[in-house]
Amino acid sequence: MNVLLTGGCGYIGSHVAVVLMSAGHEVVIVDNLTNSRRDVVDKIAEIGGRPPSFYQGDVGDVEFIRDVIRRHRIDSVIHLAGFKSVGESVQLPLKYYQNNVCGALGLLQAMEAESVSNLVFSSSATIYGNPQYLPVDEAHPQHVINAYGRSKLHIEEMLRDVCISRPSLGAICLRYFNPVGAHHSGLIGDHPRGIPNNLMPYVVQVASGEREFLNVFGGDYPTPDGTGVRDYIHVMDLAEGHVAALNHLSLSTGWHAFNLGTGKGYSVLEMIRAFEGGSGRAVPYKITARREGDVACAYADIQAATLGLNWKAKRTLEDMCSSAWFFQNHLSTRRQGSGR
Ligand code: NAD
Ligand code: UFG
Repeated sequence: MNVLLTGGCGYIGSHVAVVLMSAGHEVVIVDNLTNSRRDVVDKIAEIGGRPPSFYQGDVGDVEFIRDVIRRHRIDSVIHLAGFKSVGESVQLPLKYYQNNVCGALGLLQAMEAESVSNLVFSSSATIYGNPQYLPVDEAHPQHVINAYGRSKLHIEEMLRDVCISRPSLGAICLRYFNPVGAHHSGLIGDHPRGIPNNLMPYVVQVASGEREFLNVFGGDYPTPDGTGVRDYIHVMDLAEGHVAALNHLSLSTGWHAFNLGTGKGYSVLEMIRAFEGGSGRAVPYKITARREGDVACAYADIQAATLGLNWKAKRTLEDMCSSAWFFQNHLSTRRQGSGR
C-alpha cells in the first residue's frame, strides 16, 4: 500500500514509518519540521533498509498535499502532524486550532479531491478528561479541559461528519494513552526541543546528568503511593497499532475509535524505580505541587482494540525504560561525535 504519513519525522511518526516499511508498505512522509529534524529521515532509511519519500511542507496546504497524493498514488493516510503541548495550548489556543484543526481540514479536502478513502488519525486519551470510571473505554464521556484536547475532539467530530457524507470513507481515530520508549536500534526516539514536558524524556535527562532532579507533580493524589498513574505504552507497540488499523480499514468503512494502551497503570514513583532498574542510574526527585490540568489516574480499557483491531501491546515496562535509555546514550554519543 502507498501510505502518506503526516508528521512522520516526529517521535511517534518515525516509529510508525519503520513499522510500515517493515510490513512492506511504501511510505511518503510530509512534515514541516516545526518539531523535528531532517536527519530523522536518514535514520528511518537506515532502519528500514531503503529511504522513505520525504516532502517538507504543511499538511494544511491543499494543493501541495493533492500533488503528493497524485504523484505517489496514495491509498491511505496516517495523520499525526500537529502540535501536542497541553500547557502551550492553554496559553495559545488559536495556534492549536490553526495548526491542528485547519491542518486536518486541508488534509481532508485534499483527500476528498483525490478520492483517497482511508484515514488513520492520532487522537488522544486527553479527550476523556478526568476519568469518571476505570478503565476508560471508548464510550467514556468526553470532558476536554484544554485547547489541545479540544482540537483533537473537533477533528474526531469532523471525521464523523465526513464519513456520513462519503460512505466510501473509512476513518479510525486512535486514542493514544502515554507512548514512551524507542526503537531498539537507538537511532530514533523521543527527542523533544527544549525542556521536556513529559515524564519519560525528563527522567532520561535526569539519569544522564543533563538535569539535576525530577519534579514529581503531586504526592497527594488518591493513588496507592500518592503520585499520578498513567497507562504507559511502548512506542513500537503503538506504531504496530497503526498497521493493525490500516488492515482494519481494508475491510471496513465508516468512523471508528480505539484506545491504544496496555490496560495497566503505573505511578510516577513506579516509573522512576523501573527506569533506575533498567538504566542502573539514580533518578533524584522532589515531590512538588500538582501540575494544573493533571488527572490522578488514567488507564485504558483495551478490549475494543484487542477484538476490533486484533492488536495488543506486548512489550514490557522494562523494554520501555531500557529502550529510552539506549536511545539517550546513542544521542549523547552522536553529540560528542559532532562536538555538540
Ligand atoms: P511530535 O511533535 O514529535 O511529532 C509531530 C510532527 O508533526 C513533528 O515532526 C512536526 O514537525 C510535525 N508537524 C506539526 N505540525 C505540522 C503541520 N502543520 N504540517 C506538517 N507537519 C507538522 O509529536 P508526537 O509525540 O510524535 O505526536 C504525534 C501525534 O500524536 C500528534 O498529533 C499528537 O498530538 C498525538 N499524540 C501524542 C501523544 C504523546 O504523548 N506523544 C499522546 C497522544 C496523542
Ligand atoms: N510528571 C511529573 N513530572 C514531570 C512530568 C510529568 O511528575 O516532569 C507526571 C505527571 O504529573 C503525570 C505523569 O507524570 O502524572 C505523566 O505525565 P506526562 O506529561 O508524561 O503525560 P500526560 O498524561 O500528562 O499527557 C500525555 C501527553 C498528552 C496526551 C496524554 C494522553 O502529553 O499529549 O498523555 O494520555 F494527551
